[in-house]
Amino acid sequence: MNMSFSAGRYRSLSLAVVLITAAISAFLPAPAMSASDAGQQPEQQEVEVLHWWTAKGEMKAAQVLQGSLEQQSIGWKNFAIAGGGGESAMTVLKSRAVSGNPPSAAQLKGYDLQEWGMLGFLTSLDEVADAQRWDQLLPPVISQIMKYQGHYVAVPVNIHRVNWLWINPALLEKAGATVPDSLESFFVAAEKLKQANIVPVALGSDPWQEVTLFESVALAVLGPQDYRRAFVDLDSDMLAGEQMVDVFRQFEHMRQYIDVKTKAMEWSDASAMLVEGKAAMQFMGDWAKGEFSALGKTPGKEILCVPAPGTQGLFTYNIDSFAFFKHSDDLSIQAQETMAHTILTPDFQRKFNLAKGSIPVRTDVDMTGFDSCSLASAAAFQLNQQNNTLVPSISQGLASTSYVQAAIFDVVTDFFHSKQTDPVKAANQLARAVKSAR
Ligand code: GAL
Repeated sequence: MNMSFSAGRYRSLSLAVVLITAAISAFLPAPAMSASDAGQQPEQQEVEVLHWWTAKGEMKAAQVLQGSLEQQSIGWKNFAIAGGGGESAMTVLKSRAVSGNPPSAAQLKGYDLQEWGMLGFLTSLDEVADAQRWDQLLPPVISQIMKYQGHYVAVPVNIHRVNWLWINPALLEKAGATVPDSLESFFVAAEKLKQANIVPVALGSDPWQEVTLFESVALAVLGPQDYRRAFVDLDSDMLAGEQMVDVFRQFEHMRQYIDVKTKAMEWSDASAMLVEGKAAMQFMGDWAKGEFSALGKTPGKEILCVPAPGTQGLFTYNIDSFAFFKHSDDLSIQAQETMAHTILTPDFQRKFNLAKGSIPVRTDVDMTGFDSCSLASAAAFQLNQQNNTLVPSISQGLASTSYVQAAIFDVVTDFFHSKQTDPVKAANQLARAVKSAR
């Protein structure tokens, strides 16, 4: 198999570098202190917030957070690092943390919280959590992700559903195609679009975007139980088995309908292709909805949202959250606590999620004014929660450690970009790669 460079592998290497550097630094003089730690107290409460919300819709959502803090006289120092999925943001965060100068807050999520918690960088949010009763407010599937060794180290902002297919209905109609609800009907629609000289699927160039497509195909083929066996339990028989071979087969079939990129292309550029009538469909989480709205299109009407083909009623989750780095001055600590508390107020949850395309993490938020895609997402989340069929997103780092995630990224993206692909070999390769990354 062609072992080309991929962001996934880079990501796990860079984490290893952090660990090694952190170990070495234990024997070196203390790193440079931040202004506040050096005794120069900031004059007002302020948070420096690292995030990767730089697309149009994402920026609107980040501004809701900034505005809510500024209303409480907390300054906002924007530390935005472009790049959907947060790959670049994580690299920058690691170098700031290793040099002893981490920001006060960072967008961190999924298994990354465990890894940062283990390194000892994160501050406990237990006091705020007790006062605001997070254990009662949050669905258990979410509170468990926010805790490291039983203590809250992050506050959840939203629930994104990842298994969506976005559709430009005018292009579908032009090609005489209908909205697909199964992999079979998807391929029929995609073929009609291709025949009509319309790009069936827009897909950006990042490995995580390819894995977003892969995980939706995997959920359609495997169903929630076997998806979990493969990607959460990391069961080798499941990873190398006949069903996984079929996942790769269907994934391979998808490639014929994608204009595979050789140049860098963001997920938001792919969303713009739907808005501009340059492509008919996009597999993407519902942060794309924030983008469609920001580009003047009403999600659910001008751009349709349907579950990724074959995943009707199912829910792949991605939970955004903020973690706070240890700082010693009182003003920074107070600002961090206010930010954590604010994020879980009903008012913030409503305003932020309306802009972001996601749904609130609290179930008591007034959903009036949320569009049909969000209402469908909220209903599907509740149903899957009751049935214990929620599945975590692989591409978003919710299913496994960054090491296992990197191994999956490598196999999936190598397969996607190779000319000659054998689904049997790919499934075997997946099982082997995951086993060695555990
Ligand atoms: C995800 C993040 C989302 C979304 C997306 C694209 O990692 O959880 O909130 O914005 O990246 O940037």
